[in-house]
Amino acid sequence: MKTSLAFPIRQATTSRRHQLDFEQLVFGKEPTDHLFISEFAEGNWQNPRIEPFHDIRMSPFSLSLHYGQTVFEGMKAFRMNDGRVAIFRPDKHHERFNRSLERMCMPEVPYELFMQALHELVDLEQAWVPELPDAALYIRPFMFATEARLGVKVSDEYIFMIVATPVAQYYAKPLRLKVELEFVRAADGGTGSTKCGGNYGAAFYPAQKARAEGFDQVLWTDSHKHEFIEESGTMNVMFIIDDVLVTPPLTSTILDGVTRDSILTLARQRGIATEERPMSRHELQAALRAGKRVEVFGAGTAAVVAPVEWIQIGADGYSCYTGADAVMFSFKKELDAIRTGERPDLFGWNYLV
Ligand code: COI
Repeated sequence: MKTSLAFPIRQATTSRRHQLDFEQLVFGKEPTDHLFISEFAEGNWQNPRIEPFHDIRMSPFSLSLHYGQTVFEGMKAFRMNDGRVAIFRPDKHHERFNRSLERMCMPEVPYELFMQALHELVDLEQAWVPELPDAALYIRPFMFATEARLGVKVSDEYIFMIVATPVAQYYAKPLRLKVELEFVRAADGGTGSTKCGGNYGAAFYPAQKARAEGFDQVLWTDSHKHEFIEESGTMNVMFIIDDVLVTPPLTSTILDGVTRDSILTLARQRGIATEERPMSRHELQAALRAGKRVEVFGAGTAAVVAPVEWIQIGADGYSCYTGADAVMFSFKKELDAIRTGERPDLFGWNYLV
């Protein structure tokens, strides 16, 4: 759905598309030919436009560089079997973007501006949407404070941009996770449910330590007693135990993931029992110790469904079920089938460009 909002599009004179081998993609490395940009000043979004991809100049005093007013989104456009391109659930990403912006005292992006910018950019970059399985065009809308001031204040000026990059599968193999019992990702009332840059920067140190210990990522726990499981790395986390799909509820510490919501919707439609409730590490440990078939997976835009093969809880390690008949893989298949048009899009998730 294009809106009536019109803005200038300055096209690149040559495309870099053919310099890139879609079989060798590194996540987030190669930008497409164009970007969308608009500045916020004097209470309004100004001069929305699409331009050839370029670097940006900003003052070293820019507030985002010092006090972290920066928010992003991540969504994907897919190539359908009939060659058309569809963006997956952009309206839900727009809603979440605005919720994050509100929490960070940043101005909302109106729906029309967001959708038109997305539509025009992806339309222009259709050649950058890979046809390969598990590949997509990753789209990154983001906003940051640009007012030049070292005083601690809410910025009055911002840049909103959308950039895009072709991507392949995020994780090449099942994950080994360490239940994090020292550091926390988010505390009640904090910014954990938003996609602000600080959440990701603050996670680097614990994740790096986990990697040095031989794990791929951490499984975050709550900030009170490290008892309840929250998220995994940059993804929501889901469990299938005793045929029930369990995932932590949406609190102020959990991101309202679009893949999380899509999987819950598909599970309910299939008649699989779902529970959005706190899951303690003791409950998880008891199920693993009892030798139950436990499926654990991360759900996120970048990773889609990321199977977990090993969970380390303190000194004890456990393997999780990742057999080919695991239910988690059926969600991935179903999502793929909806995105390629192989299955009907019953929930209206595909936004056709
Ligand atoms: C996403 O899944 O889109 C993420 O935000 C994860 C990461 C690429 C930051």
